[in-house]
Amino acid sequence: MNRFAILFSGRGSNLEAILQHWSRPEENPDTRLSTPVLALSNRPDAQGLERARAAGLPAKVIDHKSFAHREAFEGAMIEALDEVEAEWIVCAGFMRVLTPSFLKRYEGRVLNTHPSLLPAFPGINAPEQAIAAGVTVSGCTVHFVDDGVDTGPIIAQGVVPVRPGDDGQVLGDRIRAVEHDLYPRAIARVLSGQVHREGRSVEVKGPPLGRS
Ligand code: GAR
Repeated sequence: MNRFAILFSGRGSNLEAILQHWSRPEENPDTRLSTPVLALSNRPDAQGLERARAAGLPAKVIDHKSFAHREAFEGAMIEALDEVEAEWIVCAGFMRVLTPSFLKRYEGRVLNTHPSLLPAFPGINAPEQAIAAGVTVSGCTVHFVDDGVDTGPIIAQGVVPVRPGDDGQVLGDRIRAVEHDLYPRAIARVLSGQVHREGRSVEVKGPPLGRS
């Protein structure tokens, strides 16, 4: 059984979508091979904390601001992750960059969703970046996390239109609706051993994950 923790920083709508997906094993048989064990926020005011607890998942805050440096913050996270024997990390709106040494500890077992069609628009404010660039489609990318910022091997992408008059908020909401469907299914596929990765090349077994 693959035990995973969900790392987040704010609203937690993806966290909630993941927990809902795992609450329906009859519809989502892939989820039977893994289980969420902890919701971990770096912010004490994150809305996702309540969402996790309401779904019955233990939720913990490790406030990055109370540590002198990143390694100490990540050391505390690893301690909390070890306590619940979490070996996979699912980032869901987690707004801290993970260090190479943290990533080494969980090598090949850290997943993320990003609100753009990577490699376009990495980093913060991706929907705003897409609007400023004038693209007509955008979306989300589920990927393995590597040492770069949003540069890891791509597992699945979902596409949404960018409409005239969109602002970052409207486009971000449209992208999130697709993430809520795609990210849980992609995580379940990875954690049930149906995704093979070699270097940057990723093979997803079963029906295509992406929707456009
Ligand atoms: C999501 O759209 C996610 O892709 C994005 O933050 C949002 C979190 O929403 N992540 C990043 O931008 C990471 N670079 P949520 O808290 O409601 O799930």
